[in-house]
Amino acid sequence: MAFPESFTLELLNRTDIVDIVDKRVPLKKKGSEYSANCPFHQEKTPSFTVSPSKQFYHCFGCGAHGNAIGFLIEHDGLTFLDAINYLASSVGLEVPKSNFQSPEKKQQSSNLLEALNIANIYYKSQLKKSRLAINYLKDRGLSGKTAKDFSIGYAPDGYENLKSTFKNYQDETLIKAGLTDKSDNGKYYDRFRGRIMFPIYNTKGDVIGFGGRVIDSEKTPKYYNSPETPLFQKKYELYGLLTSRKAIHDEGYAIVVEGYMDVVGLAQFEIRNVVATLGTATTEFHIQKLIRYTSEIVFCFDGDRAGKSAAWKAMNNSLSSITDSVQLKFLFLPSKHDPDSYVREKSAKDFQNLARQALPLTEYVIKYLTTDNDLVSQESKVKFLNNIEPIIMKINAPKFSLLFKKRIAELVNLDMSEINQVIGKVNKQKLPTRQKVNNKIQRKILMSSTRKFSLLIILNPGLAKKEDLHMFQSDLHEAKLANAIIEISLKDTEYNMASIFHFLSNRFGEKVIEELNSQLATVGEMNCELEIDALRTNLKNKQSAIEKKNTLNQIEKKGNTNLLSDEDKDFLRNITKR
Ligand code: GTP
Ligand code: MN
Repeated sequence: MAFPESFTLELLNRTDIVDIVDKRVPLKKKGSEYSANCPFHQEKTPSFTVSPSKQFYHCFGCGAHGNAIGFLIEHDGLTFLDAINYLASSVGLEVPKSNFQSPEKKQQSSNLLEALNIANIYYKSQLKKSRLAINYLKDRGLSGKTAKDFSIGYAPDGYENLKSTFKNYQDETLIKAGLTDKSDNGKYYDRFRGRIMFPIYNTKGDVIGFGGRVIDSEKTPKYYNSPETPLFQKKYELYGLLTSRKAIHDEGYAIVVEGYMDVVGLAQFEIRNVVATLGTATTEFHIQKLIRYTSEIVFCFDGDRAGKSAAWKAMNNSLSSITDSVQLKFLFLPSKHDPDSYVREKSAKDFQNLARQALPLTEYVIKYLTTDNDLVSQESKVKFLNNIEPIIMKINAPKFSLLFKKRIAELVNLDMSEINQVIGKVNKQKLPTRQKVNNKIQRKILMSSTRKFSLLIILNPGLAKKEDLHMFQSDLHEAKLANAIIEISLKDTEYNMASIFHFLSNRFGEKVIEELNSQLATVGEMNCELEIDALRTNLKNKQSAIEKKNTLNQIEKKGNTNLLSDEDKDFLRNITKR
């Protein structure tokens, strides 16, 4: 999956995203951009835009955004590789054979990806060779096809198996990728041993980590996961999303379960609209990710105590991400069952029936809070109101929150004005929605002049100047980012936004790209040249002030201020005063 960067850049430069999108979602021209109803969420008025100059799509409603490759992945459900192949053939480029550059030249994240990809291939090949592992999966009711669909593999027993696959077994990259570890006496060894391996994919189709389940039930821990890496953070990732998102889209809802085996087990029964959290509580990021594909999420938890507490956590973490067009539901299985065991003992139909009867969030919350509270005495009503207040306060969806309050008012025999007096002094409906607040914060706080300069150069690579590179001399992330943007812009002024972003994502990761992207939506395209000039003057002054200060500090240290001009002395006094 590793292509020379020049190839991907060339590909994006030859592609017109407007063409790609328009073939799938008919676009209407609106000013300098194109728009349509967003294909990634349900809406009546178009908030989905495609920019021919930026070569990006962006939805102001759900936040979906990306370049042509991203669109094919998200919309058509293609893997990264398929999207590349498709685009290449439509613009007449030949896809180079995956080539491996010398390791020291590669950036860390692509190194990690490459290592994980190689390990994945290795684990898969080992599964084919292991009677023990195959029998284990068969005993658990999985077919060869299901194992293949999820690229399940096997890490054999033994401490140095990966040595046979990696040329440099002692490469620190393998440790960073969580594939090997180093003992106190400096010996390297495989991190996963004697485990069924579940590769975890991002939605681009890259392996970003693994979950490994022991075969020998005597061993602990039962599951061992990859450590957090720049590529893999459990709070953002969902197991199975790559394979399930088409089904999620088609079925119209997503089922969130707790375990790898639940995702795989349900798929064995043709229930494919399923993802799992990775041994962590559901986070707001998980929810935000899922509502790009569907407006209905059904949480499915084990019927035991742990399941109940996980559900309550998931509910709390989701509240701030709910909008009026999103529905969250909660499904509890009979105790002693998880989704995998349930579907095997009963049937796919039984499971789907349960999913259909899942409790809507409001009903679930009320049920939970009234389990030990009969709401008869005044005190119990007060207690109920106290419990439910923080929940209501976290909901930003105005209609939903209003109806929830109404339902609560009925339960405790109050009317709406009384409820509004006791729950949350602030009238929630008047508060801006979370998204608006975020945008404002982003615009105000995150938009340093460095960032603004970066954004404007992304929009107008042709306006970058060689001397701009001197403006950002610090080691800070922001300065490095700015320098990288200037560098690539100087390399070839023909680069469009999509190719610049591609270049950046290899160096700074996807998160930065998402951030830049959403900020771009707030930067106008008017008068860029003037703005850039103004910022340039400003930033240059800042940089020379810093440099001057450094020199002055040095001189001052040597106690040699006599050598300074009056102007410099003045400057020194001012600077030190501040
Ligand atoms: P099976 O027992 O194979 O059916 O797995 P399961 O998926 O049903 O697992 P379980 O319900 O026990 O746990 C749910 C999820 O929690 C797993 O899929 C893992 O992500 C995580 N998990 C479970 N046990 C461990 C553990 O020992 N360590 C870690 N780090 N995570 C675990
Ligand atoms: Mn299980």
